[in-house]
Amino acid sequence: MAGFLTEQNMMWRDRAKAVADKVVRPLAAKYDRLQEYPWEIKDALAQAGLMGVWIPKEYGGSGGGVLDLCLCVEELSKACGGVGVLYAVNALGSFPLLVGGTHAQKSRYLPAIATGEKLISFGLSEKFAGSDAASLHARAVKDGDHWVLNGEKKWNTNGGAADLYTVFAVSDSNSKSRRISAFLVEKGTPGFRIGKVEDKMGIRCVPVVELHFENCRVPAKNLLGDTPGHGFKHAMQTLDRARPGVAAQGLGLAAGALEFATVYAARREQFGSPIISFQMIQAMLADMATRVEAARHLIYAAAKAVDEQAPNVSKLAAMCKLFATDTAMQVTTDAVQIFGGYGYMKDYPIEKYMRDAKITQIYEGTNQVQRLVVARSLIKEGLNLKYLLDYIPKETQQGVNDPDSLARKAAAPPETATA
Ligand code: CAA
Repeated sequence: MAGFLTEQNMMWRDRAKAVADKVVRPLAAKYDRLQEYPWEIKDALAQAGLMGVWIPKEYGGSGGGVLDLCLCVEELSKACGGVGVLYAVNALGSFPLLVGGTHAQKSRYLPAIATGEKLISFGLSEKFAGSDAASLHARAVKDGDHWVLNGEKKWNTNGGAADLYTVFAVSDSNSKSRRISAFLVEKGTPGFRIGKVEDKMGIRCVPVVELHFENCRVPAKNLLGDTPGHGFKHAMQTLDRARPGVAAQGLGLAAGALEFATVYAARREQFGSPIISFQMIQAMLADMATRVEAARHLIYAAAKAVDEQAPNVSKLAAMCKLFATDTAMQVTTDAVQIFGGYGYMKDYPIEKYMRDAKITQIYEGTNQVQRLVVARSLIKEGLNLKYLLDYIPKETQQGVNDPDSLARKAAAPPETATA
C-alpha cells in the first residue's frame, strides 16, 4: 500500500515489526502454553515507545491515530494473536476516556497508560448482556460524593493485569436513553475484585476474567465525563474506534499464517515435488493472499476514516472487522490444511493461528452484530435514494393493487368489502 501510508505510519509499523520479530515470535508458544501474561513482552513494547501510539501528545502519548494503532496490531498479530490483543485492548480501554473523559480525567490517567506503566481494560459485557450490550445489569447508585457499584462483568480482557477499568453500569434504571454511565475504577478499590479467570481456546497469553463489584465506592470524580447517562453512547463510540484494531488483529493472523503456509508449501515434498508446485495448493494460496490484501485495504481505509472523523465510521469499522476476522478464520484454517497432519499438532506453529483467530469473529461485537450495524446503515442511506424508485418499474395487478380497484375498495362500505 505504498503511497497510502505516511512516513509516520511506516515508522510505527516498522517499530512494531522489530519487536514482533525479535521479542514476540520466540516467546509466542511459551506463553500460549503457560497461559500467563507476558510482562517481558509488554516491557519491550513500552521500551519501544509503542504503548501510547494512539494517545494525544497533550496526554503523554505519541499523537498517532487509529491507523497507526492498526499497523502495530497487524505486525504484532503476525507473530502472536494474543500479543496483538494484549496491545490493542489498552486502546479499547482508553478510548472511552478519549471520547468522553474530562480534561482532568485524561490528564490523570492517560500519561501512565501512554508509557505502559499502567494498563487499562474495558468492562461492558455481562453474563446476560453480550450482543445486547444495553441490557446490562450492573448498578451504580449515587451516595454523597461517591457512586456505589454492584454487579458483575464477564469476558474482561486484560482483567487482573490492568490497573484501571472503564466499567459500564446502570445509573438511572427509569431512563430509556440515559440509563447507563461509565466509571473509571482503579485496581485495589475496596469492593472490587477479580473473579473467575477463563481457560481459553486461543489468545491464551492475555487474561480474560470476571469482574465483581460489591458495594464498591467509586469517587464521583471518576464518573466518565462528569455527567451521568452518556455511558452507552461512549461505549458505542469507543467500539467504532476499536473495531478496526480487532480487524487488524485478524489481518495479522491471516497474513502471518499465509507466510508460514507459503514457506512450508515450498519445503514440503510429496509425489516427488514441493507441494507449492501443485495447482490446488497454488489456488488456495492465491485465494488466501487475495483476501488478506482486500482486508488490509478495507482496514486502512476504515482506520483513516476514523482518524479523519468522517461521517458514518460505524459502518466502515463494522465492515472491516467483519471482513478481516472472517478472513482470519478462513485463511488460518486453510493454512492448517496446507500443513496437513503436522498442522494439527501443537509442536507446529500454525494451529495456534487458527485458535487465536476464532475469538476475533466474536469479541468487540460478533460478526452477526457487525452485519446488523452495516445493514442499519444501509437502511438509513436507502432513505436518501428514493429517487431511484423512478427507474424501477412498478407492477400492478387487477384486483390486487391496481389504482382503480384500490379506489373502489376504499369507497366501498366495510360490509361490502368483506363480503
Ligand atoms: N455512536 C454513537 N451513538 C450510538 C452509536 C454509535 N456508533 N450506536 C448507537 N448509538 C446510540 C443511538 O443513537 C441511540 O441513542 P439514543 O438512545 O439517544 O437515541 C443509542 O445509542 C441506542 O442505539 P441502538 O438503538 O442502535 O442500540 P441497540 O441496543 O439496538 O444496540 C448494537 C446496538 C449495535 C447491537 C450494540 O448493542 C452493539 O454494538 N452490541 C455489541 C456489543 C459489543 O460489541 N460488545 C463488545 C464488548 S468489548 C469486547 O468484546 C472486548 C474484548 O474482550 C477485547
